[in-house]
Amino acid sequence: MSLSKATILGTVAAIGLAQAAQANELREYALEFFKPLPSTVPAVNDNPITPEKIDLGKALFFDPRMSASGVFSCNSCHNLATGGDDNMPTSIGHGWQKGPRNSPTVLNAIFNEAQFWDGRAPDLAEQAKGPVQAGVEMANTPDNVIATLNSMPQYIEWFEASFPDEGDPVTFDNFAKAIEAYEATLITPAPFDAWLNGDDAALSEDQLKGLELFVDSGCASCHNGVNLGGNGYYPFGLIEKPGADILPVGDKGRFAVTETVDDEYVFRASPLRNIAVTAPYFHSGQVWDLNTAVDIMASSQLGAELSEEEVGYITAFLESLTGEVPEVVYPILPAETAATPRPTGDVVQ
Ligand code: HEC
Ligand code: HEC
Repeated sequence: MSLSKATILGTVAAIGLAQAAQANELREYALEFFKPLPSTVPAVNDNPITPEKIDLGKALFFDPRMSASGVFSCNSCHNLATGGDDNMPTSIGHGWQKGPRNSPTVLNAIFNEAQFWDGRAPDLAEQAKGPVQAGVEMANTPDNVIATLNSMPQYIEWFEASFPDEGDPVTFDNFAKAIEAYEATLITPAPFDAWLNGDDAALSEDQLKGLELFVDSGCASCHNGVNLGGNGYYPFGLIEKPGADILPVGDKGRFAVTETVDDEYVFRASPLRNIAVTAPYFHSGQVWDLNTAVDIMASSQLGAELSEEEVGYITAFLESLTGEVPEVVYPILPAETAATPRPTGDVVQ
């Protein structure tokens, strides 16, 4: 007996429908945990975002003269050409000093509920004031930053255009707000967003398996929301403490912020967007391979033994979080003048 063409086509259509129904079911399930990136720049509290402010923030982000030595810009450690981080175990800053923690990406950081591995800054504007003053990063002072900016007429004009209602707009607060406005534009839509928005073909079979495993084995209980993390605090080593190479005893995480014993070795669940391009991993930056990082998470946070195959599927899913970085045109910065404070050369031996 041969099947008629109509029957065959009908069967194919039915399989197609069944697959679509299954995809929709998984999508609805996933949407209980995750949210796609918005398609436009998000609004920011107390900081209206304008094109002028974005451009000013971009100049500041790339300007090494915001550091005391004139060497380090935000982009030194959050290089937009390499995933918004520096791909070093821990960052190198002022006077070639090695900082204590790995540099997280600035991409999509606007969606984190708090900034830093321990969440000590509530938002990006507050965050931006930190590195400028940190001795191991840019080692500068707010006064010196303002003196530097005021020495270049072009910067004064840009501040005036960005904060038109203010008499004296060149302030450290506005410096931070402009950087926040620029960072709000650093959003990277990924295949996972396309899939959440209804494009069944955006994820491969392996990635879909990985997504299911990511949710079913419990990763999504900590890594959820728009950034698949960045919104909650948990002990690193909830079930089983990783070794001191990965979780150095000296860095007690959120304990330094809250001084509560319960917060010893508590860290923010890391945002996982672009994770495949931001090795090495963890706040100590001691793990270079994403499969290994997934394996460590499974045992330390869930007490789960995942097979190599399962780890591979989860990693494949994590790769679907690598998004498209907005085009970055390198800004031409205002030229310094006779009044611009000179780089300070104190080198740490
Ligand atoms: C010397 C390297 C270095 C420089 C320069 C630097 N950062 Fe960072 N940045 C880091 C490190 C390391 C961390 C993590 C520190 C921590 O959690 O304690 C960090 C954290 C951040 C975060 C938090 C991201 C998250 O997921 O929590 C943002 C945003 C950020 N930096 C933006 C900036 C901006 C803006 C500048 C310039 C004003 C800047 N950084 C300059 C190394 C640097
Ligand atoms: C109980 C909460 C919790 C669970 C469950 C959990 N994580 Fe994490 N995850 C964290 C915390 C906290 C960190 C930050 C660790 C640190 O301080 O270095 C983290 C970090 C990571 C990192 C490194 C991020 C970076 O930027 O270096 C990856 C990758 C990761 N998790 C993936 C997973 C996967 C995959 C699973 C499931 C197998 C999972 N996590 C389960 C809380 C959790």
